[in-house]
Amino acid sequence: MTVLTAQNAIMAFDQDSESPAPERGEVLLDVRAISKSFGDRVVLQDMSMRVHAGEVVAFLGANGSGKSTTLRAVNGLIEADSGDVTIAGVKLNEASAQRRAEARRSAATVFQKIHLVQRRSVLQNVCAGGFSRLPAWRSVPALFGQELKEEAMACLERVGLADRAHDRAGSLSGGQQQRVAIARALCQRPRMILADEPVSALDPKAADDVMQLLHDLASKEGLGVAAVLHQPHLARAYADRVIGLRDGHLVFDAPTAEIDDAQLASLYV
Ligand SMILES: Nc1ncnc2c1ncn2[C@@H]1O[C@H](COP(=O)(O)OP(=O)(O)OP(=O)(O)O)[C@@H](O)[C@H]1O
Ligand SMILES: [Mg+2]
Repeated sequence: MTVLTAQNAIMAFDQDSESPAPERGEVLLDVRAISKSFGDRVVLQDMSMRVHAGEVVAFLGANGSGKSTTLRAVNGLIEADSGDVTIAGVKLNEASAQRRAEARRSAATVFQKIHLVQRRSVLQNVCAGGFSRLPAWRSVPALFGQELKEEAMACLERVGLADRAHDRAGSLSGGQQQRVAIARALCQRPRMILADEPVSALDPKAADDVMQLLHDLASKEGLGVAAVLHQPHLARAYADRVIGLRDGHLVFDAPTAEIDDAQLASLYV
């Protein structure tokens, strides 16, 4: 098994930036040696990773290994104690509050728990993804602009649910609701989607549909996708690269085809 220390992971990244692999797109997310403790418990140590435009990166690891903490340090739900996070070229801890907020908007988060407003229409839920781009006075449902509605419709088309735009969100299946949540994320105009267990509550067919959608958004539209998964077979089927975490440490980061079953199994012992 390839064991990556933070040091050689960063060296590998440095070499990568000197001679970028031609098939990979721009670096959209560059996490360098972040650490995080809660009290005296170290939950992330020297975690480094990158997400490029056009790729799906799967994050695997046992419960408590630090996957969500990594994503939260990127989307701003927590601050890392040390290390750097750069989103779309903006180094967060050196940027102004406004640039930091803009950079973080370019990374939209999708969660396992979908959080749609069930009694509102699918379209209204998707429009909410655009609110962060609007002045506060327009972020009121009655004032949804025509322009925003059209953009939200286009986002629904991208996830294959335009025909359900006027249905109540609560009337859709779990898998469809997760696709609506992805449409809402797209309405934020992100360059990257951070998905924390997007398919853990879905049946196998719906999980495949959502993973196929995320894969298509990356491969056809050039978004970067980082998805926490608890299903190694989905990582194999849909991810370009797999990152393994154990006890807050990066244990491997490699193209999916190079990951063997023993490496995957080692994450869960
Ligand atoms: N706000 C917090 N306060 C204290 N401890 C926390 C907090 N958030 C996370 N932790 C701890 O950090 C560790 C990593 O948690 P994290 O949520 O990142 O794990 P995970 O890999 O996403 O696990 P799971 O697969 O169960 O979602 C765990 O031990 C957890 O208890
Ligand atoms: Mg988690």
